[in-house]
Amino acid sequence: MVSQEQVRRAARLRDEIRFHEYRYYVLDSPAIPDAEYDKLFQELQALEEQYPELHRPDSPTQRVGGKPLEMFQPVLHAVPMLSIRTETDISDQGAVAFDTRVRKELGLGESDLPVEYVCELKFDGLAINLRYEEGVLVQAATRGDGETGEDVTQNVKHAIRQIPLLLEGGRPSVVEVRGEIYMRRDDFEDYNEKQRELGLPTLVNPRNGAAGSIRQLDPALAARRPLKFFAYGLGEKVQGWDWRATHKEVLDQLDAWGFPVNREHRVVQGAQGLVEFHRDIAIKRDSLPFDIDGVVYKVNSLALQERLGFVSREPRWAVAHKFPAEEQLTVVRDIDIQVGRTGKLTPVAKLEPVFVGGTTVSNATLHNEDETRRKDVRIGDTVIVRRAGDVIPEVVAVVLDRRPAEVGEPFDLSKRLEGKCPVCGSAIVREEGEADWRCTGGLFCPAQRKQALLHFAGRRALDIEGLGDKLVEQLVDMQLVHTPADIYTLGMIALADLERMGEKSALNLIAAIDQSKYTTLARFIYALGIRNVGETTAKDLARHFGSLDKLIAADEERLQQVPDVGPIVAQSITAFFGEPHNREVIAQLRAAGMQWPEQEGEMVRELPLSGKTFVLTGTLPTMSREEAKEKLEALGAKVAGSVSKKTDYVVAGAEAGSKLDKARELNVPVLDETGLINMVGRARPDTAGKARPTEGEQE
Ligand code: IVH
Repeated sequence: MVSQEQVRRAARLRDEIRFHEYRYYVLDSPAIPDAEYDKLFQELQALEEQYPELHRPDSPTQRVGGKPLEMFQPVLHAVPMLSIRTETDISDQGAVAFDTRVRKELGLGESDLPVEYVCELKFDGLAINLRYEEGVLVQAATRGDGETGEDVTQNVKHAIRQIPLLLEGGRPSVVEVRGEIYMRRDDFEDYNEKQRELGLPTLVNPRNGAAGSIRQLDPALAARRPLKFFAYGLGEKVQGWDWRATHKEVLDQLDAWGFPVNREHRVVQGAQGLVEFHRDIAIKRDSLPFDIDGVVYKVNSLALQERLGFVSREPRWAVAHKFPAEEQLTVVRDIDIQVGRTGKLTPVAKLEPVFVGGTTVSNATLHNEDETRRKDVRIGDTVIVRRAGDVIPEVVAVVLDRRPAEVGEPFDLSKRLEGKCPVCGSAIVREEGEADWRCTGGLFCPAQRKQALLHFAGRRALDIEGLGDKLVEQLVDMQLVHTPADIYTLGMIALADLERMGEKSALNLIAAIDQSKYTTLARFIYALGIRNVGETTAKDLARHFGSLDKLIAADEERLQQVPDVGPIVAQSITAFFGEPHNREVIAQLRAAGMQWPEQEGEMVRELPLSGKTFVLTGTLPTMSREEAKEKLEALGAKVAGSVSKKTDYVVAGAEAGSKLDKARELNVPVLDETGLINMVGRARPDTAGKARPTEGEQE
């Protein structure tokens, strides 16, 4: 027989575990170490196992150990799950049109006050209805056709710890909470990475990942997927809800019950407020940790919502206002292979032009041979193309259902090129452990020469205005320029022969070339185009050595004393300067008058955080990620992208995901923003001359 003492103990354990789950999964600010939590959980499990009468459907232990289902049971929704009208117009106009319609329906004239709205994000996941009876989660159902969905209670309990099994503070007789199940982008990438390592299938995108996971029949499999949840509304409501006059109050209530409610929502007045929200979120979109496909506007007053009602199964009081889609379907016409500055051969899909991420895209990178094969992209395939922000468009996946009967062969880079560089005919190689094939032609290869010259003259290197694509193309094709040093011997006569080159532009170009002779050591090092040496590394090298000759003389060991320079970078540097041809070009450049101030160098100076590695995750309350990174780096710390045993600290903000989990797993100290500020100080570091922009594309 179970004792009163044990009944009380079980109840107390459930409360405590629930509290810690809320802190961990929803607030992202754990109150106790994982091991302590595990102890509580195991104690409760043991008690419940010993005394089955202690079992409760809302016990945290109900989240583990479910059995695979045969099929999902249909669920008739108490209140239909409607869709919302989409303003396809992606300009401001969508917001204005919605406000105009609402005002007209409500019979408001020009002299009437603006309508109050709540603006929210439109999460790109899977809609779900969560039914609570007496405060206990009794059923989770997908939207289905809006009338009838599928019962996915088991999966929701197992896979989404952010969804409470018991409502916090009060037990309404019946309430249905609606929201979106989604997957964070970093979690999606980590998951795919792991799957790849195991040789298992990967997910196409976070949305399919979320939807597919919830419809897994085996809850153990669903639980392996990193799913998250945001609540945004109600289905069936309890009696006595009259005091909640606005949608904003509903959101606050959802928060009080223990649901994650996205903080990026705003109460605004009139069309102008909607337009501002749409614009603000468009700017933030790519820095959000999850995908959204637009924003949603809702009339705030519940009374007005009721008055507006519905039309053809869509509410008149809400609208979705989209952003340009970041993914689109299109067809691969051909696969080209491009030669980069250091000879890297990149397969590029030539696409049926498609409007994606706000521009027309007709080329998308396939990264390298392995990626192309892994995705099995073939000529004729229909593919998903993604272009987010300023990132180069890429082919995400093939839609196999649409593969035509006559499709190209599996991609084989070397076979396709018959082992030769498509530009210069030199042999191509792929070294062991390398993902890329390379042309061995070096600067003999016109493609590499062109890229090297463009890099040399680029804005972040020697910044020679006017020396762009077209000109470099001609200079190389007409054999006027072989190495960067040849640029400095170009005269009016040679330039006069070029297409579209008037006397004025020739003079300007010569002046720009002349000007570029006076530069900095960091720019010069970067301009050389040494493999694996980006702008940041070039700056570090310049600061460390102070003079070019010291850099040239350094061996690999010496080079590795520079912050962030590891064996691979060190090897690339010694290989570059070991090449007689490269030293010859440097001598010619110096002879042409190229100069920069040289200094002592900081070879021994230590910064306060030198040698420390940080990882940033989630959104900090006041500091942007860039700002945090800049501060840390200015003090000598290294900011890495993933957590490992070598990580010294993880700085975690709101909605931190798997990186935080990893930090806990590895016992890496976790700092919040205050902790970070204590460490780096509030003042902006003096970054003059050593600001570290994100590293440019490096090969
Ligand atoms: S409210 C009656 N709010 O968009 C209004 N929906 O067609 C019901 N969605 O698949 C929807 N973010 O899952 C609402 N903040 C948000 C949303 C949102 C995403 C999805 C929803 C459904 C579709 C609406």
